[in-house]
Amino acid sequence: MSSEDITIDRTAVAEIAPTNVEDSSMKAKATSLYDEIVKKNPFFAAGGGLMLLGSALAIARSAIKSGSAFAYRQLLIDLEIPSKDKSYLWFLQWVGKYPQRSSRQLSVETSFHQHDNGSVTTNFQFVPGPGRHLIKYKGAYMLIRRERSGKMVDMTNGSPFETVTLTTLYRDRHLFKDLLLEAKELATKQNEGKTVIYTSWGPEWRPFGQPKSKRLLNSVILDEGIAKTILNDVRDFMGNGNWYFDRGIPYRRGYLLHGPPGSGKTSFIQALAGHLDYNICILNLAEPNLTDDRLNHLMNHIPERSILLLEDVDAAFNKREQTKEKGFNSSGVTFSGLLNSLDGVTSSEETITFMTTNHPEKLDPAILRPGRIDFKQYIGNATLYQMEKMFMKFYPNEHEKCKEFIDYCKTVDKSKTISTAQLQGIFVMNKNDTNGAISMIKEVYRN
Ligand SMILES: *[C@@H]1O[C@H](CO)[C@@H](O)[C@H](O)[C@H]1NC(C)=O
Ligand SMILES: *[C@@H]1O[C@H](CO)[C@@H](O)[C@H](O)[C@H]1NC(C)=O
Ligand SMILES: *[C@@H]1O[C@H](CO)[C@@H](O)[C@H](O)[C@H]1NC(C)=O
Ligand SMILES: *[C@@H]1O[C@H](CO)[C@@H](O)[C@H](O)[C@H]1NC(C)=O
Ligand SMILES: *[C@@H]1O[C@H](CO)[C@@H](O)[C@H](O)[C@H]1NC(C)=O
Repeated sequence: MSSEDITIDRTAVAEIAPTNVEDSSMKAKATSLYDEIVKKNPFFAAGGGLMLLGSALAIARSAIKSGSAFAYRQLLIDLEIPSKDKSYLWFLQWVGKYPQRSSRQLSVETSFHQHDNGSVTTNFQFVPGPGRHLIKYKGAYMLIRRERSGKMVDMTNGSPFETVTLTTLYRDRHLFKDLLLEAKELATKQNEGKTVIYTSWGPEWRPFGQPKSKRLLNSVILDEGIAKTILNDVRDFMGNGNWYFDRGIPYRRGYLLHGPPGSGKTSFIQALAGHLDYNICILNLAEPNLTDDRLNHLMNHIPERSILLLEDVDAAFNKREQTKEKGFNSSGVTFSGLLNSLDGVTSSEETITFMTTNHPEKLDPAILRPGRIDFKQYIGNATLYQMEKMFMKFYPNEHEKCKEFIDYCKTVDKSKTISTAQLQGIFVMNKNDTNGAISMIKEVYRN
């Protein structure tokens, strides 16, 4: 066997050797030919010079090219704003309001604005579409390039990924910051007096609809003193940042509002956010797609000046562990996932977390540790105090009817209560008609 192998190898070597010899002899022939033609023929010698000149020119050209790229790099400066960045929307809004120089490609953004009287006006804002645009900002020209990046699509809202690139002279680079600050100011001015409500879109927070007009704190009627107690507690917390920092305690406070549905827990928190000039991030823990990872990520990326509202916090208490398979049967947030997220928030800003539940009896005592829930408040069905206040809010001049109404309510069995939402529904149905409202409430109590 082995001897056969060797012989085969030897023949292979023998086969290769002659071609090698031929090759080198061909090379020798070609060299002598070249010598003969080039050295003895003046035309070919000149051609060689031309070739040299040509390559020299090519080198020079590429030098100019790279030189201009160098000059571009030295003289001009680019700023890229990807659509993922917060300032992207601010910038588009700003530039839509800015006098345009040479925009031939516009794109429209339609927005609705609701007035306090309830009427809605439609605004069309023209913003630079994909393409190139030139603006003059504080005496400096800026080239705006808005580009869609290929087939990439932002999975969270289906819009294509875009970038806006601003180009200006290097010496004017400080204007970028001015411009972005101006754009941010414009955006915040538009939201002044409004509460932005954020909801989760995949792993990030997105404004939910247009910013809402602030809700007045006294538009939500809780039982006597409760609103004031909570407000004072939040104010006290917000004014004591240094106390927490000095002691190395995470600067956060958790509130739990519990009670039957329709008692105004969420409405009150929204009104409180508006009163404190905060925005609000709402997350429903019962949402089936919410996983521990997403919850953790969301809680660590809360937009600035926002109150976090976790609704149906008891939803996490039925499950101690999350099924590993996500997708078809993702089972929501687990108890340990919630605790980790609450403990793990590492924001330098104050973190105010409100939680609501209809089933406080399902809560595990572990959540009542300081830092998780520091303040617990029952928000129940309408009390006599709330009924009177609400009646007077809907029928401001009907003092006698109010007395009649309250006198009736006092006679009702104390175990029978109705929610403030139901009470408000009855008042709304009988806008003018106090008698209608009273008889409707009597009917509710009778059943
Ligand atoms: C509502 O208010 C806006 C501006 O404040 C006004 O333009 C509009 O006409 C009003 N609509 C009604 C129905 O009063
Ligand atoms: C939950 O996830 C599934 C599949 O991943 C998706 O089809 C569905 O729209 C999601 N539901 C919500 C409320 O996000
Ligand atoms: C998830 O899976 C469990 C059993 O593994 C099943 O009982 C439950 O109905 C499923 N939930 C959903 C929403 O598919
Ligand atoms: C609250 O009122 C609703 C009716 O509006 C009633 O069904 C419910 O039982 C009441 N809950 C409590 C705790 O009294
Ligand atoms: C309220 O009552 C007045 C007269 O009593 C009537 O003119 C008005 O249309 C009523 N409004 C509503 C909303 O029912």
